[in-house]
Amino acid sequence: MSAWGVELVDLVARWVHLIAGIMWIGNSLLWNWMDRNLVAPTTGARTQTPEPVGSIWLLHSGAFYYAEKTLLAGAPMPSRLHWFRWQAYATWWSGFVLLLAVYWLGGRAAMTDPSVADITHGTAVLVGIGGILAGGLVYEFAHRAIAPRAPRLATLKWVLSLTFISVVFTLLLSPRAAFLHVGAMLGTIMAGNVVFTIMPAQRELVAAVQATGSAPTVVSEASARAKRVSIDNNYIVFPVLALMLSGHFSTLYAHPHPWLPILILVAGGAAVRHVLNIRFTFASWRPVLAATMLATVASLYVVMRQSASQGGSRRAPAVDVATQGPVEFADVRHVIDRRCGSCHAAEPADVSLGVTPAGVRFDTPEEIIAFAARIQERAVVTRTMPPANTTRMTEAERALLARWAAQLPR
Ligand code: HEC
Repeated sequence: MSAWGVELVDLVARWVHLIAGIMWIGNSLLWNWMDRNLVAPTTGARTQTPEPVGSIWLLHSGAFYYAEKTLLAGAPMPSRLHWFRWQAYATWWSGFVLLLAVYWLGGRAAMTDPSVADITHGTAVLVGIGGILAGGLVYEFAHRAIAPRAPRLATLKWVLSLTFISVVFTLLLSPRAAFLHVGAMLGTIMAGNVVFTIMPAQRELVAAVQATGSAPTVVSEASARAKRVSIDNNYIVFPVLALMLSGHFSTLYAHPHPWLPILILVAGGAAVRHVLNIRFTFASWRPVLAATMLATVASLYVVMRQSASQGGSRRAPAVDVATQGPVEFADVRHVIDRRCGSCHAAEPADVSLGVTPAGVRFDTPEEIIAFAARIQERAVVTRTMPPANTTRMTEAERALLARWAAQLPR
C-alpha cells in the first residue's frame, strides 16, 4: 500500500479507536462510580418486586434520572435490555488495525533500534505479538486457576509476569515501540476480560432469569470472576491511557532503562485510580490523592531529567565550545540536509514514515533555526532522530549539532 494509503488507514483507525475507547472507558467509569454510590434500599423497599439492591438519583442535562440495581428475583425479564459490549470490541479491533498499520507492517514507526538489540523487523513483530499473547494467557490462567482460591496470589503472579514481559519488550524493541506494546498488552487483557469473562457471566445471568424467573441466589464462580476482572480493568485504564500517549514524549521513552518510566506510568496510574475508588469511604482522600499525583509527577521529573542528562540510551557527546571553536551554520545545514532532509522537507525523498513527518521541514535556514531546540532534543539529547538512525548519522555529526545548539543565543 502507498505511504499515504497507510496514513489514511492510520487516521481512520485512530479516530474509531479514540471514540470507541472514550465510550467504553466512560461507561465503565460511570458504572463503577454508580456502584460505589448506590443507596441501600429502605426496609419498605425490601418487599417490592423485584427487590432493589440499591438505587441512585442523578441529574444530567436538564432532567433527573432514577436508576435502580436489582437481580430481578421473581420479576420477568424486561422486553428490552441494553448490553454494552461493542465499544470494547471496536476499541480492540481498531487498536489492532493501528498496530498493524503503524508498527507491524513497517513504515510509520520503527519496531527495532540497532542500539537496543540487533534483530530484524520480522523478529521484532513476533516478539510484540508473542508478548501480547503471553501476557493475555498468563492473566487468564492466574484468574481461572489461582484467583478462586487465592485472589491476592493471582494478582501478584500476573502483575510480576506482565512486568517481566514489559522488561523483555524494552530489551528487544525500539523504546517507543516497547511502550506501545506494553499498552497494547494491557488493552488486550481488558478487551479479553469483556469477551471471555464479563459477557459469558452476563449470558449466564440472563439465562438463569429466563429459565427460573430469578437470578441465581448464590453468586456463581463466573459472576464472581466477572466482578474481579472488571475491577482489574478499572485499575488498568489509567496506565493504558498514559502508555498509548507516550509516543509523543521522546524524553520519556529515550530513558536509558525504558522499563523504569513504564513502571512509573503503570504504578502511578493505578495508584491514582485506587485513591479515586476508595474516596467514598475514605475521609481524607483529598490529600492522599494530591500526594499520589505529586509522587508520580516527581518520579517522572526524575526519570526525564536522567534521560535528558544521560543522552538517552547512549551518552551524549561532550560539548566544549570554548576549545573547539564556533560552528559554521553551513556545516550544520550540510549535516541536516544529509541526515534529516530525506524526510523533513516540503518534498521529501523518503515518505515511508509519512510526508513531512510532524509537519517539520528543514528546507531553509530559518526553518532549521526555528527548530534548533527540538533538533537538539531529538538528535543529540534523546537520539530518537533519525528514527532508528536510518540515515546513519555519525557521532561527530551529533557532536557538531550539540556545539551549534550550545552557541545559539537562548
Ligand atoms: C526516516 C525519516 C526521518 C528522518 C531521516 C528524520 N526524521 Fe524526524 N521525524 C520523523 C517522524 C516519523 C517524526 C514524527 C514522529 C516522532 O515525533 O517521533 C519526526 C519528528 C521530528 C520532529 C518533531 C517532533 C518533535 O519532537 O519536536 C523533529 C524536531 C525531528 N523529527 C527532527 C529530526 C532531525 C533533527 C533529524 C535528523 C537528525 C530527523 N528528524 C530525521 C521521521 C524522520
